[in-house]
This record gives sequence, structure tokens and C-alpha cells, in this order.
Amino acid sequence: MTEASAQVALPDVEATEALGAALAHEVQRGDIIFLRGELGSGKTSLAKGFLRRFFGNPSLDVPSPSYLLHFSYCDAACSSGANPPPAEATVVAFSAGARSLVPGCPAHHVDPYRLPVGKIAALLDFEKIFSEVALVEWPDRLGDQLCTSTTPARLEVFFEGFGPQGEGRVVSLSAVGERWQRAVDRRDLGLGGGGPVLSCKEGGRVDIRKDQGLRQETASAPAGADGVRAGATAQ
Ligand SMILES: Nc1ncnc2c1ncn2[C@@H]1O[C@H](COP(=O)(O)OP(=O)(O)OP(=O)(O)O)[C@@H](O)[C@H]1O
Ligand SMILES: [Mg+2]
Repeated sequence: MTEASAQVALPDVEATEALGAALAHEVQRGDIIFLRGELGSGKTSLAKGFLRRFFGNPSLDVPSPSYLLHFSYCDAACSSGANPPPAEATVVAFSAGARSLVPGCPAHHVDPYRLPVGKIAALLDFEKIFSEVALVEWPDRLGDQLCTSTTPARLEVFFEGFGPQGEGRVVSLSAVGERWQRAVDRRDLGLGGGGPVLSCKEGGRVDIRKDQGLRQETASAPAGADGVRAGATAQ
């Protein structure tokens, strides 16, 4: 089941992208991240930060897939033929970067917002998409065939309570399945790979600022005190 976990404050769009970049260091082949939140809450911005860092390409074009449904990104290894992009995909870039953080593994960005619930299951090859790296906006549109409360295993990023007057965003991170659950339960998501490490203590809120990297706002231990990466502990 999905359980509430750490909250992360994102004061500006750069912080949203920074969270996406941090998550890029945590993924492995087969990982799925659901991006929930109302229209314009920041889901694509997070995906942009994720994909740019994942492919080591800070200028990678990351448009919203809400019209074309699915963009598939590859590094040089997967676009060279060993693992070509799926035929039905609208491929943004055959070579998004020379070598991704999971070399040879495509990353998919899916947004079924404009479709009736369940329709996208018949349009895309989710067996393949979910076996690589997948970012899914509006996952409630996937339908029961693709998504239940227990499957697929995934990290969920939920943009909370954002309105027209809202400044910044707050997201909560939660997990479905063991892959991410242990890290979330321990409030110890090591976000950042080679960059800043973030430790989410119970009740603590983490503040991400573009000029300061990641810092804790209310948690007791200093950011990085645990020095543990979720990618190394939450397999
Ligand atoms: N933390 C933030 N603080 C303030 N503005 C933000 C933040 N994160 C993203 N934004 C802004 O919110 C707007 C919408 O962002 P984005 O397109 O990523 O939303 P979305 O959730 O993908 O929308 P949709 O539901 O239409 O797909 C953009 O102008 C972006 O710059
Ligand atoms: Mg979007």
C-alpha cells in the first residue's frame, strides 16, 4: 500500500527540477515513478530535472507528453540498436546523452491525462515501459489493468495543495512495494547520488533551494549526516 512519507518543500521550479535530478541518481532498470498532482503543479518540471540528469544533458529538450502521450529517451548505447526505442513511441531524442546513469536503459515519460481512464493500456507497450525506467504523470488514468494499490512497485511523488495563489510547491514521497518502501519507511531517502545527500527524519521537512542544494528545515540531524544513498539500500 502507499503510505505517507517525507514531505519536501520546493520553493521554485529550480527546486522541482533539483528533486527530479536527485531522484535520477536513485533509479535502476525497472523503476517506476508516479507523478501525481493537479494541473500545472510541477510534474513535467520534475521529469525535466530527472531526465536531464539521467542523461547527463543539461540542455535536453523535455516537452510535456500530455498531447503525444509518450516520449522515449535513449542514450547512445540503446539508440545504437541493441535496445531500440519502441515502435509506437514518439521518440524525442534517439540519443539524449552519451551515457545515462543506467547505461543502455531507455527512460519513458508518459502522460495519459487526455485519455479516458484505461485507454492508454491498449496504446502503449507497458510491459516494456515498466521494465525500463518510467515516469508517469496522471497515473490515475492508467486504469485497473495497469495499476492497482499494490502494483506496479513504484515511488510516488505527490504535489500537494497547490492553488492559483500558491507560491512554491510541497511534495510528499511515498512507496508501493519493497523496492522503495524501506527507504521511505526509514525516512532516509538518499537523494543526490554524487551530489548532496538528504536525510528525511520523521516529521522533518526538507527544503530544496537552488543556491543551497538540499538542506533540512526541521529535522534534527544535518543534511547528509547519515551519508546513505537509497539506491544502495532500497533494492
Ligand atoms: N516548485 C515550484 N514553485 C513554483 N512554480 C513551479 C514549481 N515547480 C514547477 N513550477 C511551475 O509550474 C508550472 C507548471 O509546471 P509543469 O508543466 O511541470 O506542471 P505539470 O504538473 O506537469 O502540469 P500538467 O498537469 O499540465 O501536466 C510551470 O510554469 C513551472 O515553472
Ligand atoms: Mg505535465
